Amino acid sequence: MRLGARQRQLDTLLASYHSFWHPQPFRELVPSWGNEWPALLDALRKLPDAAVARLNDDSVGALSLLATHCPDVAAIVPLMALPQRAVQALPVPGPFWDWEIPGRKRAQIEAFVAAIQPEQRPVLDWCSGKGHLGRLLALAWQVPVHSLERDAALCESGQALAQRAGVAQSFVQADALTCASWPRRDEHAVALHACGHLHRRLLREAAECGASGLDVAPCCYHLGAADRYLPFSSGARLDLTRDDLRLAVTETVTAKARETRLRDRGLAWKLGFDAYRRRSGHDTYRNFKPVPESWLRGTFFEFMQHMTAREGLPTLPQVHADEFEAAGWQRRHDVMRFSIVRHAFRRALEVWLALDLALYLEQRGFEVTLGTFCARTLTPRNLLLSARR
Ligand SMILES: C[S@@+](CC[C@H](N)C(=O)[O-])C[C@H]1O[C@@H](n2cnc3c(N)ncnc32)[C@H](O)[C@@H]1O
Repeated sequence: MRLGARQRQLDTLLASYHSFWHPQPFRELVPSWGNEWPALLDALRKLPDAAVARLNDDSVGALSLLATHCPDVAAIVPLMALPQRAVQALPVPGPFWDWEIPGRKRAQIEAFVAAIQPEQRPVLDWCSGKGHLGRLLALAWQVPVHSLERDAALCESGQALAQRAGVAQSFVQADALTCASWPRRDEHAVALHACGHLHRRLLREAAECGASGLDVAPCCYHLGAADRYLPFSSGARLDLTRDDLRLAVTETVTAKARETRLRDRGLAWKLGFDAYRRRSGHDTYRNFKPVPESWLRGTFFEFMQHMTAREGLPTLPQVHADEFEAAGWQRRHDVMRFSIVRHAFRRALEVWLALDLALYLEQRGFEVTLGTFCARTLTPRNLLLSARR
């Protein structure tokens, strides 16, 4: 299916299910869609924990569940499925290439390189960190590489690694958001997991300056975004807030068990605090600043002392701590179930955002393909946008 047709259909479907994916379940005691779909609400409440954990990380499974109540949502599934890009074998990159790279990162870089086509032109590695990606490209493609990175220490370590590997890779220490001389005409720009404003800037500048090609795996679409997302391409109509953009990237498939436990406790305790706040006469949810991780390592009562002091509420008497902690865990139980509905649309939103970028480049004369470069288990940010003049 052409990218434009895919975007139009996804745009229409996502707009019509806005009430499913836009509201954040922790803000409401019962989701507003529950009035229209009471049987769905009931079915979700009865789900066992294991199914809840699975469905919150499985958009296709969650959409299938939703489709048993609201059959038309099934039309989204084929629109969010993108082909895995063909891979080519990498030349053996020599003994020095993988020094200092954590295992998962190394596998992501190798998968990314195996899925992109050389242009036989100089390469720009945008927001390169220590330049592991650029180093592998210099080794595999035998082309000069510039690695652009803001952090001086990363540039210095990257330059030392490049020297050790004996490759033509030089670091440019610069701010990707303001630098005027990069990317360059006729060069091939690559970016692996450059966050929202960083990949958006690369696309705009590459299209303007006449870059020969681009290979980008976007991530963190919400970073640097305005309160309301300004679409890149001319056909995109969906109105997205920054929280909607964040929804596109909130999977935890690569989270460790310890992180998951802390996240669960964090949600339950914050909802316990919300229950106490509501009991103190405030009947709507209010945003609060991020909670320091250290506050989640003590007891719930200590957590509430920090929170009430910071948020200007009366101190919770210790005798009531168990009651509000239990209320928090009970609300977490519901919120996790209602979140399945919202999370069902996560991948579709991410694909919509990537299509917006892809069509922007298509509208500027590039030939564009959108696919995946690795399995989701390696990284959920596995979309690869490739553009050639
Ligand atoms: C998520 S890391 C990705 C690094 C590398 N591409 C990779 O996949 O290993 C993002 C990198 O962008 C860099 N960065 C963040 N803001 C930047 C900016 N404004 N200009 C240049 N680099 C930036 C960070 O220092 C970090 O090294």
